[in-house]
Amino acid sequence: MNLVQAIEWAEGHHRRGLYSPIGVAFHWVMAALMIFQLGYGWWLGRLPVGGDKLLGYQTHAEVGLTLMVLGSLRFLWRSQIGTPENVDEDSLSGKASHAVEVWFYFSFFALPISGWVMWSTLPGDLPLSIAGVIPVPNLPFHQLSEQLQFTLMQGAATAHLWIVWITALSIPGHAGAAVLHYVFKRDRVLPSMLDLNGPDQPGVVGSATDSGSAREPRRH
Ligand code: HEM
Ligand code: HEM
Repeated sequence: MNLVQAIEWAEGHHRRGLYSPIGVAFHWVMAALMIFQLGYGWWLGRLPVGGDKLLGYQTHAEVGLTLMVLGSLRFLWRSQIGTPENVDEDSLSGKASHAVEVWFYFSFFALPISGWVMWSTLPGDLPLSIAGVIPVPNLPFHQLSEQLQFTLMQGAATAHLWIVWITALSIPGHAGAAVLHYVFKRDRVLPSMLDLNGPDQPGVVGSATDSGSAREPRRH
């Protein structure tokens, strides 16, 4: 499949009100990693200082940098392919859901970058990498004065924590809104992120899967 065919394949899903399997895979893999990071980071913060904590933060940093790479690929994909149009973008709820999605994209970069700044100002020589495979250097902060490094560390830690909280509070709102759409509006918002085939009756949740061609009525 070449690029043009891949775009046409993805847009075919969008025309049926669904995210493409690539969009769905990005969503659920990154959602799982994000939720893991929030829980693991919080748990590490409460561990007593020591070797385990440092090694734990190394894993935390590597998963976080992986999220940033996935976030870049996903942003590229979304900016080229777009998304299905299941929500009225001009309604208040449409604007709110768009704002939350923009925030999530922001967090895919702002959390790893603020974490990377913190990591680069901390003493220690544990190496960093993306998913344990591609090495990532520390940011070149050692040349700076100790005072400036301390200020950077404090600023990055404050930013990291604020973004952590806003993201952690946004996730139940985002997931809850998707479930409310399913239960009350019975529209395609939630199935669009779960169904890889798609309803053949637009707007009808759970209708038979679409073979992609119009069906002839059976003649006897
Ligand atoms: C999407 C990615 C990330 C998420 C969701 C995340 C989440 C968190 C959370 C929940 C905490 C605990 C805050 C607390 O103590 O309550 C934390 C702390 C921390 N994170 Fe991350 N993080 C991410 C990426 C990164 C990256 C890429 C690095 C390093 C390169 C990093 C380095 C740190 C450090 C050093 C701390 C300790 C901060 C402190 O004790 O003040 N994080 N993170
Ligand atoms: C855990 C339960 C979750 C559920 C039920 C859920 C459900 C959904 C649904 C139904 C959509 C499509 C909305 C639309 O088209 O208007 C969506 C989109 C989106 N979700 Fe989630 N989500 C969850 C978790 C997360 C998490 C943890 C993140 C990241 C922090 C996330 C980030 C996004 C983003 C960025 C979009 C926009 C679509 C895209 O760019 O791929 N979601 N979600």
